Amino acid sequence: MPAPSSPRILVFDSGIGGLGVVQALRSLAPSLTIDYLADTALFPYGEQPDDILRERIADLVCKSCDTLEPALAIIACNTASTLALPILRERLDLPVVGCVPPIRWAGRVSASRTIGLLATSATARRPYLKQLHDEFAADCRLLIHGSRHLANLAERAFRGEQPDPAEVQQELACLFQQPGGNDIDAVGLGCTHYTFLLPYFQRLGPAGIMWLDPAPAVAQQALRRLCDVTEASLPASPSSPADRFFLTAHPQNGEELARNIAWLGFANGWDVFS
Ligand code: DGL
Repeated sequence: MPAPSSPRILVFDSGIGGLGVVQALRSLAPSLTIDYLADTALFPYGEQPDDILRERIADLVCKSCDTLEPALAIIACNTASTLALPILRERLDLPVVGCVPPIRWAGRVSASRTIGLLATSATARRPYLKQLHDEFAADCRLLIHGSRHLANLAERAFRGEQPDPAEVQQELACLFQQPGGNDIDAVGLGCTHYTFLLPYFQRLGPAGIMWLDPAPAVAQQALRRLCDVTEASLPASPSSPADRFFLTAHPQNGEELARNIAWLGFANGWDVFS
C-alpha cells in the first residue's frame, strides 16, 4: 500500500516575506508539503491602494486554492491579512491562518509600557491596529513606523545583498526618534519581510530592545489548525508530492532565485502562476 501523502499547504505573500514562516514550518514539520505563492507582480503591497489590493488578494488566493488544492492556507503577509482575511475566510472552504502585527505580544512583554511597531505604510494606517491596541495593550503607548522602504531592503537582503547600515538606521530612527521613543523596550515586526532584516535591527538598533518576530508563532498556529483538519477530513491526495514555488511575474534573475529558495526546500525551482 502506498504511504499516505502528507497534506499540502499554501503559503501566500507579496514576495519573500512568507519564507520566514516557511523556514519555521520546515523546522517544526519537515515532512509537510508546501506550495508558496508570491504576488510579485504587485509588490510592494504596502504601496498599493486598499481597494485594489483587497480584490486582487481575494481573487488570486481563491484561484490558487482552486488550482493547488491545499488543506490550509497561510496568508503570511500582514498587509494582506489586515485587509483581506474576512473576505478570504468567507469565500474559502478551508482554514485560513493570517498574520497580525504582534501588538498583543509586545504588550505582554514590555516593562516600560511603551511599545513599537514596524510595518508597511498600508498596515500602519489600518484601523485594525487601533483595535488590537485597545483590546490587548491599552495601557501601553504604541509608536508605529509605517515604512516605505524596509520591504524592498528585505528583498535585497534575502538575495544576499548587505543592506546599507545608514539606510536601516534611518528607518529605525523614524520609530525611536518619535516623542517617547527612548522608552520603547519591545518592537513588533508587523511585516513578514522584516524577518530577513532582524539581524540588522538587532545590530543597528538601540541596545536592550526585544524584537518580536511572529513567524514561528504563525507556523505553530498553522500546524495546530492543520491537525484539526487532517483528523476530520483530509482532501484528496495531491497529484504531485513536491513543494512548488510560484510567482505572479517573471523574476529578474531566475537562476539566482532558484538558488535562493533551494535551501528552503524548493528544490525544483520556480514557476509563474497563471
Ligand atoms: N510581507 C508583507 C507584510 O507582511 C508586505 C510587504 C509589501 O509587499 O509591502 O506586510
